[in-house]
Amino acid sequence: MGFEHLKGFRDIFPEDAQVRLELFSKMEDVASRFGFAPIEYPSVEPLDLFKIKSGDELVKQTFSFKDKGDREVTLIPEATPSTVRLLTSRKEISRPVRWYSMPKLWRYEEPQSGRLREHVQFNADIFGSDSIYADAEIIGLATKILDGLGLKEEYEIRLNDRNLMNNILGNIGISNTPAALSIIDHYGKVDNDTLLSEMSDQGIDDEQAESVIKLLGNNLNPPDLMDFLSSLIFMDDKTIENVNRLEDTYTLLKKYTDAKIVVSLSTVRGLGYYTGIVFEGFDRKGELRAIFGGGRYDNLSKLLSEQSIPAVGFGMGDAVLEILLKRTNRWKAEQRRKKYAVCCSTKKLADRCIDLALELRDLGASAISDLNNRSLSAQLKNASSNDCDYAVIIGEADIKSGKVTLRTLRTGEQSQISIEELVKAVRNDHI
Ligand code: HAM
Repeated sequence: MGFEHLKGFRDIFPEDAQVRLELFSKMEDVASRFGFAPIEYPSVEPLDLFKIKSGDELVKQTFSFKDKGDREVTLIPEATPSTVRLLTSRKEISRPVRWYSMPKLWRYEEPQSGRLREHVQFNADIFGSDSIYADAEIIGLATKILDGLGLKEEYEIRLNDRNLMNNILGNIGISNTPAALSIIDHYGKVDNDTLLSEMSDQGIDDEQAESVIKLLGNNLNPPDLMDFLSSLIFMDDKTIENVNRLEDTYTLLKKYTDAKIVVSLSTVRGLGYYTGIVFEGFDRKGELRAIFGGGRYDNLSKLLSEQSIPAVGFGMGDAVLEILLKRTNRWKAEQRRKKYAVCCSTKKLADRCIDLALELRDLGASAISDLNNRSLSAQLKNASSNDCDYAVIIGEADIKSGKVTLRTLRTGEQSQISIEELVKAVRNDHI
């Protein structure tokens, strides 16, 4: 009987694992340039941590269970509550704080393109600033990651603001804003008739529901937002303030990226804790699920700890990124070390191979030597199938003259060189 991985999970083989390592390291590199420090937290947490504000939908999707001490625990479905827990456990940390992490997350979702039951998510958050500078900086970090991956032309950012939506819905006369927002979150995933009947079930009358639907279809150039809204709804001072804040954030964000940025009033985000700006990144063709998503959540720390710390952050998963990078021919390992197979012409020389392989490794190269006492031809075959660039062949006659044969495996070209020349060439390659 064979075993396969569970539905929605992945086995990742070296050719992909190498590209993923480089992808994660590029994300960490950008985060580090932005002054973000890494953190880690457990993969299993009390389920209650997510019941507080992550929202019913996410809690329903958890891989949760009772542990042997009868505690209700879960594999973490998102990073944000744990990150806030770490922050609020250390009052002495001077703020603003910039933290990032790269956890594996688990959500019992219906597996589909770009959505799995286990994924790796790059998370970045800024704590201790409620300004538009923090909003722009965090979205700017997401854009710098994508732009650095060569995806500038491939994605767009959709902006919205929860305060703005609350005020708009209030001005339309809708009082149950959480229910209305969760219906708006379905926009584009279900047809408009379904949206209308969902709103009617929540006591939103037809005229109000029609007004909401009219707002949702367009992706707006941010400077046009004020005119667009003024033409459709009553604009009180608070709504005008919200629009101004969003437009000012957009202006700041333009410093970070030339990528396409729009306002999308249907982007409200499913998670329960957002209190201000919300944003998502999508592929420009609109074929894939969100590449990243996040927003401002100024109240979560108070709910977890009684400390009030404004916060803004985002998560960017590996799954959609992989699809987008593959689709645009960018899923390639770049930084592979040169790989050498040190081969011996007779078994007697096996120890010499180990010595030379160790020397090459010290110089920064990747080197293997035979582990199975095989013939030279078997060693060379193995070198090719192990993706080696060169074979270094040690022969008995060579030993006396201090030389080896260096064969370029791709072309089959080979020449005799001294060990000193080999060392020099390998060193130069790795400095
Ligand atoms: P989220 O929108 O649930 O937000 O997830 C953020 C990103 O994680 C998504 O845009 C997507 O790239 C990836 N993602 C989510 N679910 C899956 C899945 N099932 N399979 C593959 N990728 C997935 C959050 O998680 C928030 N905690 C982000 C945040 C951080 N907000 C503030 N700080």
